[in-house]
Amino acid sequence: GEEKSIRPLSFQEYIGQEKLKEELEIYIAAAKHRDEPLDHVLLYGPPGLGKTTMANIIANELGVGFQATSGPAIEKSGDLVSLLNELQPGDVLFIDEIHRLPKLVEEMLYTAMEDYYVDIIAGQGEMSHPIRFPVPPFTLVGATTRAGMLSAPLRARFGILGHMEYYSEEELATILFRSAAILETEIDFPGAKALACRSRGTPRIANRLLKRVRDYALIRGDGMITEEMTQSSLSLLGIDEAGLDATDQQLLKTLIEDYHGGPVGMKTLAMNISEEYETLEDMYEPYLLQQGFLQRTPRGRIATRKSYEHFGYPFPEEA
Ligand code: ADE
Repeated sequence: GEEKSIRPLSFQEYIGQEKLKEELEIYIAAAKHRDEPLDHVLLYGPPGLGKTTMANIIANELGVGFQATSGPAIEKSGDLVSLLNELQPGDVLFIDEIHRLPKLVEEMLYTAMEDYYVDIIAGQGEMSHPIRFPVPPFTLVGATTRAGMLSAPLRARFGILGHMEYYSEEELATILFRSAAILETEIDFPGAKALACRSRGTPRIANRLLKRVRDYALIRGDGMITEEMTQSSLSLLGIDEAGLDATDQQLLKTLIEDYHGGPVGMKTLAMNISEEYETLEDMYEPYLLQQGFLQRTPRGRIATRKSYEHFGYPFPEEA
């Protein structure tokens, strides 16, 4: 309907990632000027920072169609061929979790990206031979949590590397004001600031918490999201002053209490707190590292002084 989407649809509405936006605006304008497809774009960074939104905006700004899928959803080479054949010239094909493409599909993507054709193997055994099919010129936008998870040949085929960064508290507060307006909820400046500094630099988390605080403020207050409403509802959710949730807290406390602060491997920590190792590495660790609660060493993770102090433990000084 007429109602504004909570997801921004243009660069103008998109808050943050200023450097990446500026770069993309130039490359998009140049591609349009030459009437060529935009070079392939790899977006990498922690979950929830807006990679899918950014891919969608790239298509909107180019004025082309947008098809979205994910690495694990493309099981066979045939699935990729059908997707490519549905594209109009210049369209954006978005593949989320591109590091999880099956190997044969990934290899087929190489020629599609580089020269817009795919080789399909016809016949069996001795009689098998490749048949070459053209695909429409297109722009692949791939997303992954870490660029290092991609194979070197795939990574090399992206002309534009876009690193998605954690958002500042100011940017998150601006996003929260925008989202609150769309949700027709009142939020004051201290409320937005309190929520922003507990959203782990991540718009997805900020917007999720906003909805919970909005519920809380409606039932326990007068509907207005204030600092007090934010503090009370987040403590009910088990989110602490630094925005750390139950899993973050368990991870750090286990490291301190059971492993003398480390070093200890992430797999060991994962087992201890019954979490998936991949979830901890992709979703939890990057923010804890960025905020200086955790450090990586060749022998494993260690808890920092900041971590000890955050939980009120004395930091073990060297003898
Ligand atoms: N909602 C979620 N992410 C956003 C962003 N980067 N800008 C504006 N609104 C958003």
